[in-house]
Amino acid sequence: MSAKPCQLLVHHASGVVSWNDAAPADANSVVIDAGKVVEIGQEADLRAAWNPTQELDAEGGLVVPGLIDAHVHPVFAVGRAEEFDWRAQGVEYLEIAKRGGGILSSVRNVRAASDENLLGKVRSHFRRMRRHGTTACEGKSGYGLSVESELKSLEIMQMAAEAEGMPLYATFLGAHMFPEEHRENPERYLDILCAEMLPAVKEQGIARAADIFIEEGAFNQEQARRYCECAKDLGFALRIHADQFHEIGGTQLAVEMEAECVDHLESLSDAGLEALALSGKTFAGLLPTVPHFLRQKIDAPARKLLQAKVPYFIATDFNPGSSYTPSLPEAAHFARIRLNLTAEEALFGMTLGAARSLGIEAQKGHLGPGADADLLVLDLPDLFHFGYAFGENPVSKIVIGGKVQAKS
Ligand code: NIG
Ligand code: FE
Repeated sequence: MSAKPCQLLVHHASGVVSWNDAAPADANSVVIDAGKVVEIGQEADLRAAWNPTQELDAEGGLVVPGLIDAHVHPVFAVGRAEEFDWRAQGVEYLEIAKRGGGILSSVRNVRAASDENLLGKVRSHFRRMRRHGTTACEGKSGYGLSVESELKSLEIMQMAAEAEGMPLYATFLGAHMFPEEHRENPERYLDILCAEMLPAVKEQGIARAADIFIEEGAFNQEQARRYCECAKDLGFALRIHADQFHEIGGTQLAVEMEAECVDHLESLSDAGLEALALSGKTFAGLLPTVPHFLRQKIDAPARKLLQAKVPYFIATDFNPGSSYTPSLPEAAHFARIRLNLTAEEALFGMTLGAARSLGIEAQKGHLGPGADADLLVLDLPDLFHFGYAFGENPVSKIVIGGKVQAKS
């Protein structure tokens, strides 16, 4: 029988993590055709059956599905490095926000930035994520907080994603914080969110989900309920920030609203955990670099969540204020150190777990036959080494949609 033509053969891997039960445990090669995974197996067997146009030597590295970052705030113009010094002097995150810093300082910068400047920044954020192995991401607006600036943020995010070839699942985060001009009359901003912003975003079709920050000093449970109902009525999926610093019923509301996910959870209560366990649908979004970056001593109760079979993902929360890292491998290190997850659990959370939370698991997050051929070669001898080192990038080669990416 003659060998069939195919697009690409990735070979000489130390192993292939595919999350696909049909793939043999001793696989070291992947066959790709028309941008999709076709077969995983032993190099000699695959070479007998396939005649590849192109080959990629994994050079003894580990092949894994492309990483998916399911919680990112990429639309910011400048960093907030000075806050780092304030925090060193003991000023806490919510206190900085109260003084008009934090999220509102990023809002001022985004509003002032030209489209060209902002586009350049967002593109560079996507490139930095890509270099660390992110091959698809969710991305939030949330530093505009006006009809005009939120629409601008979502449009620019989409343009940047297209320009950088980053598959993007966009989320509208107009309810990140009350903007300065509505601080005295927050209900007016809620009216604008519900009557103007959500419908405008819907009409333009530039976000699949809506998000809200439920927290003291941001949105309370009652305000969040109104926003979530408006968003749901318009057909948005919900992805929610809650239980980061204070437990004010955000997780319970997320479950009640059948949100796709509720993220942070460092202050999750037993009642919140129970609600998530009963739901079985709403994902826990674990962001283990955040408490590190904010010098907090608490972490999300990841082991309890996993034990209760709550579906989960792990993300970077890449943003200028609470997690200034574009690197999912770095997040894996923190997941192992601070959340007590295994390497396998960490990798799962940023591949198939993340894909499931976004409803894209038919195509992404694993290397089963027919899946998009988005994969990485990691310079690691085995899966135990994933998240073991920190401060260095293990990604040596990237394939997206079957195309080998040039180093950027
Ligand atoms: O997920 N907690 C709310 N929002 C972001 C931080 C945004 C910022 O500080 O700029 C987060 O941590
Ligand atoms: Fe966030």
